[in-house]
Amino acid sequence: MKPRGGSIAALGTDEAGESVADSKRVVVLASGNGSNLQALLDAAAGPGAGMAVVLVVSDRPDAYALERGKQAGIDTAVVRPADHPDRRAFDRALRDLVAATRPDAVCLAGFMRVLGPEFVRAFPDRIVNTHPSLLPAFRGAHAVRDALAYGVRVSGCTVHLVDEEVDHGPVLFQAAVPVEDGDDEASLHERIKREEHRLLPLAVGLIASGRVRTDGRRAWLTAEVPS
Ligand code: GRF
Repeated sequence: MKPRGGSIAALGTDEAGESVADSKRVVVLASGNGSNLQALLDAAAGPGAGMAVVLVVSDRPDAYALERGKQAGIDTAVVRPADHPDRRAFDRALRDLVAATRPDAVCLAGFMRVLGPEFVRAFPDRIVNTHPSLLPAFRGAHAVRDALAYGVRVSGCTVHLVDEEVDHGPVLFQAAVPVEDGDDEASLHERIKREEHRLLPLAVGLIASGRVRTDGRRAWLTAEVPS
């Protein structure tokens, strides 16, 4: 499956570094290394991708994801919880920043904060997350460690829409990754990330081009791109 579109333009930038106007607009939220952001940037740079990352936001000023964004010539921003009186204010500041870019998709790529309802409701069925387990198993921040501790023989990743519960929204894609003898958290996570790097850009492209529909927990693809 590849994202398809009627009038999607090839990605490019003009002299001012602005994204091409008719590419779908993607905002990425990331807290860490940003290898998933990189996969998205690489996919968006491909011919006919039809999407552009227009902003990278982090809650951590030292996140390497910000550096990746800058190296790709993309606007970056830091929104720190510590700079806001409470979680709701943080949530609103993040929402307003992201909404100002008029995103077609919002991608959580290793964003280690729980988004509050005011953020989630601002972008219905437009926020996608990747989680390093086969949900609903091993929700939370230590999914790979928890799966190994449980002794599973197969884990994987889940790319899903974001709703108001943590690691919970409708599933878009899953990939299974076998646990190998001698795996530790780092080695298993590395192989899981290879699957995330494949599936997350695919999901973002589909959401951004308006091809994902939901009914309760079920998500599916429409054949046609809405005009
Ligand atoms: C990914 O495994 C993602 O599933 C989890 O955090 C990790 C982020 O990795 N939520 P990276 O920063 O994209 O390398």
